This record gives sequence, C-alpha cells and structure tokens, in this order.
Amino acid sequence: MKNFISVHDVADIDALIRKALSYKADPYKDHHLGQHKRIGLLFLNPSMRTRLSTQIAASNLGMEAVVFNVGQEGWSLEFDDEAIMHGSTVEHVRDAAPILGRYFDILGIRTFPSLKNKEEDYSELYISQFKRYAGIPIVSLESATLHPLQSLTDLITITEHFKEKRRPKIVLTWAPHVKALPQCVANSFAQWVNAWGHADFVITHPEDYELDPVFTKGAAITHDQDYALKDADFVYVKNWSTFNEYGQIRCDDHKWMLTNEKLLQTHHGKVMHCLPVRRNVELSGEVLDGFSSIVTQQAANRVWAAQSVLSELLTSKAG
Ligand code: CP
Repeated sequence: MKNFISVHDVADIDALIRKALSYKADPYKDHHLGQHKRIGLLFLNPSMRTRLSTQIAASNLGMEAVVFNVGQEGWSLEFDDEAIMHGSTVEHVRDAAPILGRYFDILGIRTFPSLKNKEEDYSELYISQFKRYAGIPIVSLESATLHPLQSLTDLITITEHFKEKRRPKIVLTWAPHVKALPQCVANSFAQWVNAWGHADFVITHPEDYELDPVFTKGAAITHDQDYALKDADFVYVKNWSTFNEYGQIRCDDHKWMLTNEKLLQTHHGKVMHCLPVRRNVELSGEVLDGFSSIVTQQAANRVWAAQSVLSELLTSKAG
C-alpha cells in the first residue's frame, strides 16, 4: 500500500479486515514496527474519533504522532497552482507539503468539502495536492468526497457481527439533519461495500438525494425506506446533502428518522452510524440507547482500522 485515500489503494479488503481484527486481539504485537517513525496528522476541520484513534493506533505501533490543527493554528493554505496570492491565503501547499514530507514518514490529512463548488470538491483538490507535493504516503482522515478509515471500520464491525453462512443484507439509509452535510461517509461506505462484494446492498433516500453513481453502482436504490429495511441485518444511518443540485437540503421529513418501530421490519438489524450524531433528529435516542445499536463498538474499532492501515504503509515503506 502506497497511500490510503480510497478503497482503490487496498489490494485485499478481507486481508486488511483480518489484520485489523488481529490487532484488536493483540494490540502491541508490532510495537517495534513504527519505532523512530513519525506521522503528522493535519486537521483542516474538527475531529474527535479520527484524531484520537489514529494517535492510539500509531502509539500501538511504536510510532510518534504529531497533531497539527491547521484550520485553527496554522497559516491559511492555498491549493490552486495558478493562484496569485493577494487574498487571504498565506502559504501555498506546494511550499508547505515538501517540508511536511521532510518532518514525517506518513502524513494524514482531514479536509471537508466546501459544498459550494462540486467540481472542485469532487476533484479532491486538497488531498491530491498534498499527495503530489509531500513525497511521502498520505492517509485520508476524511476528504472532500470519501472517508476510507471510517468505511474500513464499518466493514470490520460488520465482519465481527455477522457469522451466518449467507450474505448479509446491508441498508444505507438517509436521515434528516439541520445542516447540509458532506456526502463523504455515504459515498465511501457505498464504495467499500460494493468493492467488498460480500453483501446484498440497498441504499434508501428521499427523491433528490441520489449520490454519485461512481460510488453507488452495484447497489439497489429505493425511495421506499420501509421496503429497504425489510429483513436488513445492518442499517447504516447517515445524513448527506444533495449531490446533483449540490450541497442543498431538500427534505426535512422526520419520518426518515429511524425508530424502534421501523427496526421491527429488519432481521434483528444492527444499527450503525459513524458519529457524531444529532439525537432525535438524525437518529432517535431510543435506537441509540437500545440493544440494536453498535455505534460505540463501531467507533472503538476505528483504532484497529487505523492500526492496520499504518502497519501496511510502514511495511510497504520498509520494503
Ligand atoms: N466518524 C468520524 O470521523 O468522527 P470524527 O469526526 O470525530 O473524527
């Protein structure tokens, strides 16, 4: 593995899941692998789980993690190669990234989309520029369109839970929210489940909330949430803003919020969410606090996803 930016960077998803679960069983078994190595974790946007789980993962491998909240503490970065910098940006990524490449062995980046300029967001300008100019492996800590560490975690959690000798039915359902949110988690989950290929995968959302088919191709898509939920083994709840008419809120129908009554239609369905979640808006408190919810286990598994990815990158780099 040279970088970790999307599922396309992973040669064998099942092998990576096995590696993550082996770290869960024995967190310190490779505690010398990252000795005298450093990862820089650059946050242009807020985070709790991604930041802390990646720091813990690095520590378990004997690696030093240095966090830099660029968005709050750093110089404002320019990403446009043609820019004449007489505006608010102070330093070009072309100048900053090579320095970070000298300070660190691996660089993790979190960037959110603008939700204003679809072409720019979907070109993944920010993470592409770091990849181009840093000269070291790049780990996406969530980018404009994808959240691969979250998606790997999600498949680890599903693998842990599902032991039957049949394909699980996995449903990704849109949920209401008061803010326009990125499509990253939904795009990425769809991309990974489709690439994994071991599940019957259904996406349900209101009209106007179609995701980019680049990521959803292979999934069944319906606007009928009740139909989608029938016999589901896993229900992944997530809000996203519109993709086609970009970055809009077109539905605030609270009937899309998952409740215990809706869950009765599933096959003892386990409920997942990447967190943070707005209680009783995006997901009901009764579901979050009930026995169907596996969101805490899911978030805890972020450590093992990050550790397996850092381990792969360190091993590739050493080779
Ligand atoms: N799920 C997730 O990425 O959480 P954070 O935003 O807290 O990192």
